[in-house]
Amino acid sequence: MCGIVGYIGSKNCVPILVEGLKRLEYRGYDSAGLGILSNGKSTIVKKKGKVSELEKIIDGKNLIASIGIGHTRWATHGLPNEINAHPHPNSDESILVIHNGIIENYRNLKTLLQKQGYEFKSETDTEVLAHLIDSFYKMGNTLFKSVRLALAEVEGTYGIAVLSKNEPDKIIIAKHGSPLVLGLGDKENFIASDINALIGHTTRVVYLEDGEVAEVYNDRFYTKTIQDEEIKKEVFEITMKLDAIDKNGFDTFMLKEIMEQPESVLNSMRGRLLFDEGTAKLGGLEEVIEKLSKAKRFIITACGTSWHSALVGEYMFEQFLRVPTEVEYASEFRYRNPIINSDDAIFFISQSGETADTLAAMKEAKRKGVLCLGICNAVGSTIARESDAGVYIHAGPEIGVASTKAFTSQLVVLALITLLIARKKDLSLIDGQNIVKEFLTIPEKVKKILLLNDQIEKIADEFKHVDNFLYLGRGYNFPVALEGALKLKEISYIHAEGYPAAEMKHGPIALVDENMPVIFIAPKDSTYDKIMSNIEEIKARKGKIIAIASESDDRIDKIVDYTIKVPDTIRMLMPILTVIPLQLLAYHIAIKKGLNVDQPRNLAKSVTVE
Ligand code: AGP
Ligand code: GLU
Repeated sequence: MCGIVGYIGSKNCVPILVEGLKRLEYRGYDSAGLGILSNGKSTIVKKKGKVSELEKIIDGKNLIASIGIGHTRWATHGLPNEINAHPHPNSDESILVIHNGIIENYRNLKTLLQKQGYEFKSETDTEVLAHLIDSFYKMGNTLFKSVRLALAEVEGTYGIAVLSKNEPDKIIIAKHGSPLVLGLGDKENFIASDINALIGHTTRVVYLEDGEVAEVYNDRFYTKTIQDEEIKKEVFEITMKLDAIDKNGFDTFMLKEIMEQPESVLNSMRGRLLFDEGTAKLGGLEEVIEKLSKAKRFIITACGTSWHSALVGEYMFEQFLRVPTEVEYASEFRYRNPIINSDDAIFFISQSGETADTLAAMKEAKRKGVLCLGICNAVGSTIARESDAGVYIHAGPEIGVASTKAFTSQLVVLALITLLIARKKDLSLIDGQNIVKEFLTIPEKVKKILLLNDQIEKIADEFKHVDNFLYLGRGYNFPVALEGALKLKEISYIHAEGYPAAEMKHGPIALVDENMPVIFIAPKDSTYDKIMSNIEEIKARKGKIIAIASESDDRIDKIVDYTIKVPDTIRMLMPILTVIPLQLLAYHIAIKKGLNVDQPRNLAKSVTVE
């Protein structure tokens, strides 16, 4: 979850690390810390709260060093306070460790180390690493070897960076299950848990793989496995620009990302639609397309918002491909020993491409030898690299913790995959061309919906004080109801639930009274008449109703309290449009409550622990 940065070179690392931590703050923001080496001394600065708090205390200290590591924490073990913040040192503070992940056998290791006389100061699992590395160092091993030997004892997940004042010319890094990238500069090297922290410093990166440990100097690096085998690493070029991770004049990343959707959905389909052939072209699937179109069953697995797009994907695949499709929470998929057949194909959807649950599900599926396909946003992320094939959604970096533009881009890509396979199967040229035409109208339609921002803000004002919300939709818009409810929960802390609209009468209707606002996602489609009946049922119980409805619908205004009108499109693409008012509604409610929408409490952007 957390952000890791590191620098070794000839510049002062402190501002570089602070800037890097700010860029990674979306990965965890309950506390932050730096560890640096200079003049034979190690210095640790830590602070509870945001990186800006850390910055305030750094400002008064005149810290200068050319080697250092930094961390922004998302606590798993121990309260978010100064003692538990990273770096964690060994007893004489000669070794400093920062860590992303969880050391699962930390209790046993701690007991063993305590028996050897080691004293622990924090409640974290991470601290065992500092003492364990120290115990091997004291036996006369180099830092590189001590880290390897220590990690051979460790179970769990980690991305770590380690410094020692006794070997001040190197940073040791290692990874298992949590991401870590090395950025190569000119007589300087950078370390980061994601490439956002490297943009502007270098375009040349090396992705560390699980079980690898690297010894990083200012002008070179060496990589080994934990078991001491040397490995050669490939250097990749990244193309991301600094403005991609800037707020570009918006107050928050979340609003910027919502407003960016006309471009981000366009980017997701750019160059991928072939009108003449009425199909899609997805380079990442070319090698597997024959196998994919013969799959007897699809499984789509993901977490959170990405799981909601998976549900929309299920509707798409079953409507157009007539192939049974199952959607699984990644966390459940892995542990229930899923039945997987060799002619299945499994999609893993992940904005970050680093979500531990999704990654673990993919590893399990790969072990069974089934075709694994990634649908990711973060370029070069672990799921993107380790899947057999896949498609990038090209939404651009998503920094706001609440996923918005990644969701709509995931839907675009799922629809493109559907079109591609459908045309391999029995979708006619004309039908394919009609879908292509419809795709091309989506960016403009998204733009039109965003013009409703003021209207939605007014509605938000009416509802900012309520405690509960119900979101209801049918068919393709049932997952949109779930996603709308998740957005509201995440950033406004209002309890919200999504249901298939008809399911409401089997229980949730008991909650409905004049204090319960109900959002219906009710565009004109084949379930429209049924959903109108559901609306009447809520009306009869005095529930306040907000409807997301079709532009062409003038009947619904007379029944519901508030209507937000969206342009029409084909059913498959409708969720791309209907979700946008729900993103804006959640956004405005949270802002009106004075909350930090980019960094909501308890959450982190990329959940790299299981
Ligand atoms: C979305 O608003 C959430 N913050 C969260 O549910 C997220 O979608 C989930 O953690 C999955 O992330 P991923 O897409 O990066 O795998
Ligand atoms: N498990 C460690 C802790 O709680 C690291 C958490 C993180 O990834 O930020 O301190």
